[in-house]
Amino acid sequence: MRFPAGFPVSLLGLAAQVPLQSPSNTTDIMTSKPDYSFKEGVNVFSPKDLVGLARPGTGSANDAGDLVLVAVSKYSLEEKKNQKSIFIAPVESAVQPLDVPLTNGGEAFWLDSRTIAHAVAEGAGKDKVITLYTLSVKFEADAVLTTNFRYSEESAVLVFSDYVHADGNLTAVKENDEAWENRGDTAFVYDNTYERHWDTWIGPKTPSLFSVKLSKDINNKWILGTELAQWNHSAARMTSISRRRTSCTRLRIQVAVSLAHEAKYLRRATHAPVFSAQGDKVAWLELDRDGVESDRAKIVIYDLAKDIRYTLTQQWDRSPEAVAFSRDGKAIYITAGDIARIKIFVLPVPPTPSSSTTDPALPPEYLTPLALTSSGAASGVQPLSKGRLLFTRSSLTSPNDVFVLRGLETLNLHSAVSRETFKGKLDRLTRFSDDALEGKSLDAGEDFWFEEGRAEEVAGIDDHSRRPRECLEDQWSTRWNPNVMAQQGYVVIAINPTGSTTFGQELTDAIAEDWGGNPFVDLQKGWKYILQEYPEIDPDRAVAAGASYGGYAINWIQGHPEYDFGFKALVCHDGAFSAAYHGYSTDELFFFNHEWGGRPWEPKAREVIKKFDPINFVENWSTPMLVVHGSKDYRLPETDGIGAFHALQQLGVPSRLVIFPDENHWVLNHGNSLKWHYEVFRWFDKFVGKDD
Ligand SMILES: *[C@@H]1O[C@H](CO)[C@@H](O)[C@H](O)[C@H]1NC(C)=O
Ligand SMILES: *[C@@H]1O[C@H](CO)[C@@H](O)[C@H](O)[C@H]1NC(C)=O
Ligand SMILES: *[C@@H]1O[C@H](CO)[C@@H](O)[C@H](O)[C@H]1NC(C)=O
Ligand SMILES: *[C@@H]1O[C@H](CO)[C@@H](O)[C@H](O)[C@H]1NC(C)=O
Repeated sequence: MRFPAGFPVSLLGLAAQVPLQSPSNTTDIMTSKPDYSFKEGVNVFSPKDLVGLARPGTGSANDAGDLVLVAVSKYSLEEKKNQKSIFIAPVESAVQPLDVPLTNGGEAFWLDSRTIAHAVAEGAGKDKVITLYTLSVKFEADAVLTTNFRYSEESAVLVFSDYVHADGNLTAVKENDEAWENRGDTAFVYDNTYERHWDTWIGPKTPSLFSVKLSKDINNKWILGTELAQWNHSAARMTSISRRRTSCTRLRIQVAVSLAHEAKYLRRATHAPVFSAQGDKVAWLELDRDGVESDRAKIVIYDLAKDIRYTLTQQWDRSPEAVAFSRDGKAIYITAGDIARIKIFVLPVPPTPSSSTTDPALPPEYLTPLALTSSGAASGVQPLSKGRLLFTRSSLTSPNDVFVLRGLETLNLHSAVSRETFKGKLDRLTRFSDDALEGKSLDAGEDFWFEEGRAEEVAGIDDHSRRPRECLEDQWSTRWNPNVMAQQGYVVIAINPTGSTTFGQELTDAIAEDWGGNPFVDLQKGWKYILQEYPEIDPDRAVAAGASYGGYAINWIQGHPEYDFGFKALVCHDGAFSAAYHGYSTDELFFFNHEWGGRPWEPKAREVIKKFDPINFVENWSTPMLVVHGSKDYRLPETDGIGAFHALQQLGVPSRLVIFPDENHWVLNHGNSLKWHYEVFRWFDKFVGKDD
């Protein structure tokens, strides 16, 4: 389930435990074992398995399109250490892939088709040094890949961003940092809002783009230039770009900078610019409405030669997340959420209109993108030569793996028959989690719908000892993972109510000024439907949990016993407790102002707050509740969690407070993630875990 971007981890999982059909004494987590025990075993996917599972990033192919690079990190529970490595796999042959451990972490990217650059940051603060290494890959058709690290220096143009002080001088950062640290106090002082963001107080430094020459010398050795160039943001304006096409890299940076610049001044969110390989067009994503993060993104194409820009997906009721031109520049690939999946779509690029327009009159073939994938959550789409498309995909049953879709050269987007009958050949290039997940019987889930067009999703595990159901978007999660919950013995149900994304903009928008309204009509209907359709669920042993907006939902359910969900225990993670106070304290004020009908003192917002603020209903709170909060959550400050806990304690309602002093809106640290699972399952088990 996905909510508007301002509250990115909004999630409401409604769970009900079913009695285990053959409870064995060793797996009974309730009765005998106190804290810190999970149901574990060779066929159980436990929280420990989740935390220790390798976390692959997104695959990236080299220019030749024959090798793919993936960064992977894996946490060791024994050593309490995160190990990073890069994984190099062939796209076409069956050669054994290569796993290169990166002892000091860092980021890796292709320099050319046989060279990977690897940037490692060592030290911290003013002592931070970034060293660039190159890794050359030797690759013979049927030989094992070998590599060697070489100390490097480099060229062509390498672009990077770094934080600099007001003087913009990268060389002076160290001395400026020292001066700042030795200022004799620890205060931050502000004259304007936006003093902090997510989990960071805004300090004296701002990010800036730099470039440095990077090239091979006559001995084929990479040489890094000594002169740093800085990009002047205010000089790089969109209008001047078409006439200053010096080099492709320079152009790309100028467009990126100028888009960021425009976004700042026009307050119109533009992001993810990409170029056609021919260098004649740029495409990016743009939101129409100021201050509405969950607005539908539209694709804008800018024809550099003609100096004309037009909107491509004005009439498509989905919100693209990323775009990429095909190699010949004639089509555009789109990654977008669609009914709780993130799919890859393709559209032909229309002829450039005669003048700039946000709603060009286009023939039908340019209006409806064709879906190339149907399940899971795709990312990192990269067109390769010979009609191949590289992408990364995860699902409810698997973390990321890299795939290649072949045969796209046979697809004629201008022919309805070709569009309807096209079947590419899909190959999976990596199997990062196969071994670790073997025998764990993760469940792919099951969709269910109730009422007209409201979409929800449930996943069911149909082994004989337990029959949990679960939901969410069809995407792997390292935090709220339905399979982990299911395998502790619960049926997991996740409903996508009003406010959810991927079902069209109307449903996404409809939550504004209605946080405690229609979403709960949906949840009540969904819950009723579930209890009717799945009689094996015991409604007397149901519990619920939610984070962010989902945490608001938990606080809201607390104050509304008339909804009659009958939950025996609740978990509220980083949830809004006092909406009015949130309107003053949150880092992104515009988000509140949009969602609650204005600034918290304005008449309309006052009305909405009166109706939908959880603190107005505290007197009737009675359900046992676990409150979890990260102290570095500046979206929803920890006082929301502490306030809810204090209310529960004074009302005499069983309650527990878990504070993570170093976590933000999420729980990112591996050890903390494990603790989170311990506390959540312990809480549920305390109230619904006993077999009666
Ligand atoms: C489970 O515990 C009960 C009661 O303590 C006992 O009678 C039974 O033999 C145990 N079963 C197993 C499989 O250990
Ligand atoms: C940047 O800082 C360095 C180190 O303090 C100094 O030598 C150099 O002159 C500065 N450059 C500019 C353009 O001010
Ligand atoms: C950046 O460009 C603007 C506009 O062209 C100019 O006014 C300004 O002086 C430039 N700044 C620097 C540091 O070159
Ligand atoms: C609390 O519950 C009582 C009894 O049902 C009801 O009369 C009252 O309106 C409730 N208070 C709030 C704030 O909803």
